[in-house]
Amino acid sequence: VRGEPLEDAMDLDDRAPSLADLSAIARRRVPRFVWEYLDSATGDETSKRGNTAALDAVRLVPRVLSPVEADLTTKVLGHDWALPVGMAPVGMSGLVWPGAESALAGAAHRAGIPYCLSTVASATPEEIGPLTGGRGWFQLYPPRDSGIRRDMLARARDSGFETLILTADVGTPSRRERQRRARLSNPMRLTPWIVAQAALCPAWSIATLRAGVPRLKTLEPYVRNAPGGTTGHIGYQLRVSPDRAYLEALRAEWDGPLVVKGVLHPADAQALDGVADAVWVSNHGGRQFEAAPAAATVLPAIRDALPDMPLIADGGVRSGTDVLRLIALGADMVMLGRAFHHGYAAFGQAGIDHAIHVLREGLIADMGQLAIASPAEAKARL
Ligand code: FNR
Repeated sequence: VRGEPLEDAMDLDDRAPSLADLSAIARRRVPRFVWEYLDSATGDETSKRGNTAALDAVRLVPRVLSPVEADLTTKVLGHDWALPVGMAPVGMSGLVWPGAESALAGAAHRAGIPYCLSTVASATPEEIGPLTGGRGWFQLYPPRDSGIRRDMLARARDSGFETLILTADVGTPSRRERQRRARLSNPMRLTPWIVAQAALCPAWSIATLRAGVPRLKTLEPYVRNAPGGTTGHIGYQLRVSPDRAYLEALRAEWDGPLVVKGVLHPADAQALDGVADAVWVSNHGGRQFEAAPAAATVLPAIRDALPDMPLIADGGVRSGTDVLRLIALGADMVMLGRAFHHGYAAFGQAGIDHAIHVLREGLIADMGQLAIASPAEAKARL
């Protein structure tokens, strides 16, 4: 159906047995600029490819003769989650397919896993918070202006978000060359190039395009009040490299758990001891710095530096096996960004549920191979 996600979810296990299948189907269903937005990284993308290569290189040794019952429950940041898996923040999810933020948040809540809303989402905290069952995560690109920061935090808290994720790795812009080649401007404009790409996409209609043109809705009140009222001003506002003083200010303004995302150096992780409730080891899906190492590469050193700190990790995860690989290397919870969007673009709401199902089934099968009762025991199989 033009303009609608494909709701016919019959036999998804056969049509898309892996997350790679969902990705391939999604690619056929969205215009070029959407695919380039979601899939691209920065530079020659060696960092993004390195994420999957580093995961592929991790071997876990199966055990036999000692079968155990697998329990996937994972306690992180005060909750028992149904899986050691969650949804990473993705800006402008609604560009990938209209309604993505609410579909993702609803699916995460039903499945008992965390959903993290981006500062630059196409839906507001007021719209999404109530769908998270009081357990939502709100990701903050740190505003330069403390008044804007306090207002955003109050809105997130009042909408039912519990955990604050401070993304620390966007202090300088990255070039994202593929997005430029696809003529995707920031802020996005409906240029003839964009309309032509949408027209060439059989699954899209002009209505999809109009609904999908992202409004950075959380930011709109601040843009209205800004000098010149431009999104460029907001880009300047959010492009901050937070320091210790910034973190302490945030700590004082947010009474729920505080997590810092985008950490790759053990010394940076160590500096968060006593300040953050968890550290999120991530290279932003390869989108910020071409030479950045994979989370899989740096996790063991960060785990050594911080033996008791909850560690969240992401980057290139495409199966339950990858989830166990990152846990074996030191993560407590593993997040995916692009993959759940592939599910939504491919099959609508059913596709997100299916992506979660693929991860759950993979985890159960692999935990059987490894003869481990909980995901955390994967560490013993390295
Ligand atoms: C992101 N990511 C991201 N991170 C963040 O803190 N705030 C954001 O708004 C965004 N936006 C965003 C958009 C898109 C299109 C992508 C692909 C990624 C990074 C994201 O949270 C996560 O770190 C990576 O997506 C993890 O890698 P995978 O799972 O996509 O390989």
